[in-house]
Amino acid sequence: MKKFNIVVLDITVAILDFLYRGRDYQRFWVLEEIARAPYFAFLSVLHFRESMGLRGPEHLYLMKEHFDQSVNETEHLEYMESRGGNAYWVDRFVAKHLVLIYYWVNVVYYWLAPRLAYHLSYEVEIHAATTYAKHLADKGQDDKILEILNDELEHSRELQNAMEKI
Ligand SMILES: [Fe+2]
Ligand SMILES: [Fe+2]
Repeated sequence: MKKFNIVVLDITVAILDFLYRGRDYQRFWVLEEIARAPYFAFLSVLHFRESMGLRGPEHLYLMKEHFDQSVNETEHLEYMESRGGNAYWVDRFVAKHLVLIYYWVNVVYYWLAPRLAYHLSYEVEIHAATTYAKHLADKGQDDKILEILNDELEHSRELQNAMEKI
């Protein structure tokens, strides 16, 4: 199933890269909009599990981690908005529909197979870090993009830890 995660991600990335070629900040904004959804989905499932009396030993740790990650992704999103990433209706339309689908996919995935759901997000975070690294290599130094790149790497490490804990 990890292979399935990678194949689905590679196809999605190839489509977005094609649609957004030459429009880096719009592409980053769409990616950041989508990147927030898994953390909301994980929190939703954890809240629901708590309500059903299914709180596991790592429950509070995971809730705090995913809340912090979702706030951090919103900060990234705000930065991309400050660079005009959401200026066009079509990009907002694409992102809002993708995020709705991706949120519910993650809710179901995390409920049924939490380790695999974490693995998918881990791969997404690695992809995000690679995307920002390529941007820096092409466009030169940008401290804020470097900071965001390091945040994505930190998220990938946190997801790796979460995978090992549950
Ligand atoms: Fe991000
Ligand atoms: Fe991230």
